[in-house]
Amino acid sequence: MLRNMSIRKRLLVILTLVYIFSMVGAIAGGYYIFDRDSVREAKEKTELFTTVMTANQKFMARNVRPEIMDLLPDTYFPAATVGIVMMGEAAQLIQEDYPEYIFKIASPNPLNPDNRSDSFENSIIAGFDNGDYEEWAGTVTKAGERFYATAVPIEARKSCIWCHDTPEVAHPDMVEEYGTESGYGYEVGDVVGGRFIYVSMTATDEITMQKLAIFGGGISLLFLIAMLFIDRIVISTVVKPIEEIVEVAVDISRGKMDREFNVKGNDEIKLLADAFNRMKVSLAKAMDILRK
Ligand code: HEC
Repeated sequence: MLRNMSIRKRLLVILTLVYIFSMVGAIAGGYYIFDRDSVREAKEKTELFTTVMTANQKFMARNVRPEIMDLLPDTYFPAATVGIVMMGEAAQLIQEDYPEYIFKIASPNPLNPDNRSDSFENSIIAGFDNGDYEEWAGTVTKAGERFYATAVPIEARKSCIWCHDTPEVAHPDMVEEYGTESGYGYEVGDVVGGRFIYVSMTATDEITMQKLAIFGGGISLLFLIAMLFIDRIVISTVVKPIEEIVEVAVDISRGKMDREFNVKGNDEIKLLADAFNRMKVSLAKAMDILRK
């Protein structure tokens, strides 16, 4: 196919092919690098968020809960004594300002139906239960939105049982609020759920796309300039001189022996023109001899 094209077209086709392959390679490589960056950024955000939440919980467990248990041993006050409840409340406050941070204590058997685990969370919790991993981190897409997520298992301890055993032994205020259907039957050592932290990657994904667009645009511009430049050079140093040689050769073949092959420069085409000039001289001599 290339053989039947003019030199200029052939060169443009080759350059276009090189452009397409370079573009595919550059975009794929660029995406890999930029995406790794945005995952790293989401991971850092997640770690900070986790640290803040854990610090809240530790503070409550060390400084608040013992005091409350001492002062009001029979009071049902989960917001100040149950880490999971307190963290859920704190996370909601954080979310008002940073909606991309989602904190969820998920369980397939929840007191609060809002905490019911979805299919992704169920599979991770099942992995904890089977001992496949001790914590989980990675990206996950939910309803079209990509998140960086981390999860750790939540195991039932002795201290949990009085609220999560049966509705009969749980505090009546709690049973009144959450009902008797779900959230009970915990046994010590069971993996009863997972603490999931999600950070939306929508914003960082958009930045990745912008970076890719600038990157691809830059490469395209460079190629365009290079193609125009190479095209000009090929026209002036190859195509034009050859066309001139052809024109002169046609004239000479029609008897206009006064025409000269004139090529500037010092390249192969100049050598060709010189050779043609010598051939013209020999031809003229041979014709002279013939005429005599
Ligand atoms: C004082 C009672 C109480 C104790 C003790 C308690 N919880 Fe809960 N737990 C609750 C309440 C109330 C909720 C519902 C919070 C909400 O509305 O989001 C809850 C929610 C949960 C959830 C989220 C799913 C759900 O049921 O809505 C898990 C998992 C959980 N608790 C596990 C534990 C574990 C593990 C312990 C022991 C370390 C524990 N709980 C101790 C009262 C308690």
